[in-house]
Amino acid sequence: MVFWALAILALFFPAVGQLVNITFVQLGSGRASVQNGPSHGGEDGASMETSGVRNDLKAVDCSLLWHGPIDSGPRADFGPVPAQGGQKVLEVVVGHRFSVTRAGSLEPLLQFDITSDVHHYSINESIAVGRPVPDPDSAEPSSCAADCRSAASCDQCVQLTGCGWSVVRQQCFPGHPFATENSECPETKSGTLQTWLEEAATLMDPEASGFGSASLRAAYRALQHANLQASSEGADPVVPTMDVPSSVFMAELAAKLDAVFDDADATELLAKSRHEIKTHRKVTMVKRCKLSDALPYISRGEPVVITDFFRDDPETHPVPHKWTLEYLKRFMHRGFYNVAADFKSVCCQYYEPRNISAQAGYPYPFNPRTHLYRDRFSGFVDTLRAKRTSDQKEPMLHYFHDVVMERDGKPVVAGQAAPPPLDADLAATLAALRPLAQRQAFFAGVANAKLWIGQRGVTMPLHYDSADNLYIMAWGRKRVTLAEPGQLRALYPFPNGHPHAGSSQVNISHPDWSKHPGFVDATLWETVIGPGGVFFLPGHWWHQFEQPFEDTASLNLWSYESPQAPPIPVRDERMRLNALHDYMEKQISSIFKNKAGMTLASLAAGRGGKKRLTQANETLHQAVETWRKWMLTLPNAGTPLPSAEALVQEFLELRHKHVMKERWPGWSPGVEWNMSALVALEPPELRARCVASTEKTATYASVCNWPA
Ligand SMILES: *[C@@H]1O[C@H](CO)[C@@H](O)[C@H](O)[C@H]1NC(C)=O
Ligand SMILES: *[C@@H]1O[C@H](CO)[C@@H](O)[C@H](O)[C@H]1NC(C)=O
Ligand SMILES: *[C@@H]1O[C@H](CO)[C@@H](O)[C@H](O)[C@H]1NC(C)=O
Ligand SMILES: *[C@@H]1O[C@H](CO)[C@@H](O)[C@H](O)[C@H]1NC(C)=O
Ligand SMILES: *[C@@H]1O[C@H](CO)[C@@H](O)[C@H](O)[C@H]1NC(C)=O
Ligand SMILES: *[C@@H]1O[C@H](CO)[C@@H](O)[C@H](O)[C@H]1NC(C)=O
Repeated sequence: MVFWALAILALFFPAVGQLVNITFVQLGSGRASVQNGPSHGGEDGASMETSGVRNDLKAVDCSLLWHGPIDSGPRADFGPVPAQGGQKVLEVVVGHRFSVTRAGSLEPLLQFDITSDVHHYSINESIAVGRPVPDPDSAEPSSCAADCRSAASCDQCVQLTGCGWSVVRQQCFPGHPFATENSECPETKSGTLQTWLEEAATLMDPEASGFGSASLRAAYRALQHANLQASSEGADPVVPTMDVPSSVFMAELAAKLDAVFDDADATELLAKSRHEIKTHRKVTMVKRCKLSDALPYISRGEPVVITDFFRDDPETHPVPHKWTLEYLKRFMHRGFYNVAADFKSVCCQYYEPRNISAQAGYPYPFNPRTHLYRDRFSGFVDTLRAKRTSDQKEPMLHYFHDVVMERDGKPVVAGQAAPPPLDADLAATLAALRPLAQRQAFFAGVANAKLWIGQRGVTMPLHYDSADNLYIMAWGRKRVTLAEPGQLRALYPFPNGHPHAGSSQVNISHPDWSKHPGFVDATLWETVIGPGGVFFLPGHWWHQFEQPFEDTASLNLWSYESPQAPPIPVRDERMRLNALHDYMEKQISSIFKNKAGMTLASLAAGRGGKKRLTQANETLHQAVETWRKWMLTLPNAGTPLPSAEALVQEFLELRHKHVMKERWPGWSPGVEWNMSALVALEPPELRARCVASTEKTATYASVCNWPA
């Protein structure tokens, strides 16, 4: 076996930092050696024996990454070092960290810190060359879960170390810093309907000191008592000052308090909410682990759920501990917010006009179904609460989504400075999550944060974003189905010129196997997240969020990357075919403008002969040739590439074969969106409040009173 070694040669220039010429050399078999000072071929200097570590680095290209300060994730890639060795000259300063990874990934093989001066550095031995990649399938069984579940009573449960009693589920669970409270075994206390309701109202006052999950749990119990009293009196109790039946509040609080506690809960919930994806041979559960174990996943760009992040501290972690619908209603500005509406399982499919599409003059027919509209927050709360008391068979679902932090974490609500209580909450959340974000590859800052509030039944179909994402829940549990980046052959992305660009054409809840046979080979992952967990969703990972269990609210933080970050297809091999497809589509759009879609559809249907199609075919072949040349400059260019003809056919088959079929009789290239399929907003009060979008480029397309 051949190991990498790294030597810093004595070649320095005085500068802000110092320039160091780093030499990568290949050493003999059996050990990894690290040298300080001039290289003498690998025999002198400090060396570290690494017997017994699996190593498959033979002929593997590496990348050298700069992390900046020791606590940060990798921020700049100094490019690949080929398997034959090579040199890199870099600027270093004391206190900085570097790592060596497999090219195209962020998996650290070796990490070194510049210590007292640039002549000295220390190698972190726990990240030794050849460390095996952790297997996400071999999640250690949670032994604590079994012990807690066997407890017969609350008293017995709270005596078991590490266990806690949930007043909501009335069950014993492994102690969770957020959702369980040992001191809350049901006690016998008496009161009248009125006193229980008043107690609940007091405990739910967001301005009272100590307001947080503990007081909300106590409020929930008071409402339970009130409902018991009321049922004996045949009344529907209404919470004083809030003018809403207590059953509505209980439903809102249960969605907050009924968190996912452990791996066993997550496994059960996932099993009972799976769709057709059960036809796949294997769906991997995303690793759930403690913060310390999760950090390497974040640095490597792999999804992970952190289960122990939120201590029972409402001030430090206000979103999971304090936020309820009533709390937000009290503090949100009076401005207008974005909401999507549609029916179950199609609510809510995201769409927006794309540059490439605008430049080409809308080359695809599009009739959106999901209605994106603007409403006041209080109006939205009324909509949610009205749904909760209605018995409509197929109620329209509503999904609130609006930015609450702008670049670098500046709290902004409804386009204005955030109201003081929310400003404080958002600042605390940012402070808590930033150290996690800093572990992300090439992290340069928080791009923005979005608040999502949706009803049970909402599904956001499979799509991907380019930014790394930290996701936390305020209430309710979401099911997430994930797919690794790329996978074009299994996931059939919409063309970039289509308003659903970035989404998969496959309906993963109910795949059409005749159109998307490749989906059977998709590599899928899944997880369920609830209040108290932090979900790291790396950029470019496909995701479908669903809420089959109850209403939910979440907050997510997207990051932006350092300008030094290498382009994603360079550092992630899985995204290289995307680069080809994007390039092919761009070439066709720039030549054929608003006939791009028609042209590609004709080629996909196997038509040829016409001058226009011959030209398009040539353009696609030329694009493949350009891409091949680029691929050869990259590390791990891979096994022999398929033929140009095969790549062109695959592009047409995967991305263009079925898209144009959605055209309606009157459509021709250049015709804009047809809004006739847009769902009408109900009830009439909502249409009256709704504000229509005026900008053509807006990411919402509300016509409010459609159909007239
Ligand atoms: C770095 O060191 C190598 C090996 O000694 C040498 O060939 C190369 O010229 C050096 N590069 C620079 C920029 O000094
Ligand atoms: C070595 O790396 C591991 C894993 O990243 C980390 O937990 C540990 O703190 C590091 N040790 C030092 C001395 O930096
Ligand atoms: C895309 O469109 C937006 C808004 O019209 C514009 O600001 C931006 O410069 C465009 N980007 C490119 C790459 O053309
Ligand atoms: C996906 O299929 C399900 C089940 O047939 C259906 O209810 C849903 O509307 C489909 N989703 C979309 C986005 O068309
Ligand atoms: C497309 O171009 C390639 C290479 O020039 C050629 O082999 C193929 O027959 C052409 N296909 C059509 C449909 O024109
Ligand atoms: C919009 O699409 C529908 C069918 O989806 C079609 O009947 C109607 O004619 C279209 N409207 C326009 C203005 O093209």
